[in-house]
Amino acid sequence: MKLVFLGPPGAGKGTQAGDVARHFGVPHISTGDMFRAAIGGRTPTGLRAKAFIDAGELVPDAVVIDMVRERLAQDDCANGYLLDGFPRTVEQADALADIAGPDRVVYIAVADQPLLKRLTGRRVCADCKGTFHISRLADEKVCPDCGGALIHRSDDQEETIKARLAAYHSQTSPLIDYYKDKGILRTVDGAMAQDQVRVQILAALESEA
Ligand code: AP5
Ligand code: MG
Repeated sequence: MKLVFLGPPGAGKGTQAGDVARHFGVPHISTGDMFRAAIGGRTPTGLRAKAFIDAGELVPDAVVIDMVRERLAQDDCANGYLLDGFPRTVEQADALADIAGPDRVVYIAVADQPLLKRLTGRRVCADCKGTFHISRLADEKVCPDCGGALIHRSDDQEETIKARLAAYHSQTSPLIDYYKDKGILRTVDGAMAQDQVRVQILAALESEA
């Protein structure tokens, strides 16, 4: 199964991706996570991407496409992939079609209004990569699943979130019609509770698998 998760910042792509990827036996590939790892490792890609990410802007297409092309060539992608956060422009979508186009694209739809609160309150585990919201954490610093340290992403500040949302609307949202026209888009209501979102995603994919 070759899957893409599409949706605005904070829609719940990362929250849902781990379980869904395990369900289909494919790797969860988040371009945002890859850039954060590259920045942490001070690689050339990380150093190029950092200024764009800090500003809430998209990293240039050529950089992202090369990174994804290399990742999809690895052995664990033999049975497919779950891409989270890629493609984000029509140029990236065209490039993915040339590499190995998706079977299905899940669009996790959420209006802008709740996203700011979701993102300013997000915490991510440095060890298991679990995603949480402070409203459901007893301790904002400790992962309830594995005990690892919880991190507040540097781009989860109000001004940067607004820039990310603007980039989503101008550059990424055209992909909704792009994949609708190909007949492979499935839309789920991302404003529902997390468990219900997962049920909707699996139902949308299994009914046709
Ligand atoms: P990336 O890391 O991909 O960030 P993003 O797209 O902005 O998406 P997020 O990770 O913020 O949101 P999410 O949908 O994963 O939400 P989550 O599940 O965590 O990219 C970061 C940056 O890297 C970009 O800005 C760009 O600069 C660069 N980049 C990456 N890919 C690129 C590309 N292809 N091209 C160019 N540049 C690229 O959930 C968020 C919060 O909501 C959590 O607190 C969670 O607990 C909560 N939550 C989740 N689901 C629910 C629910 N159903 N109800 C209530 N709360 C919920
Ligand atoms: Mg994410």
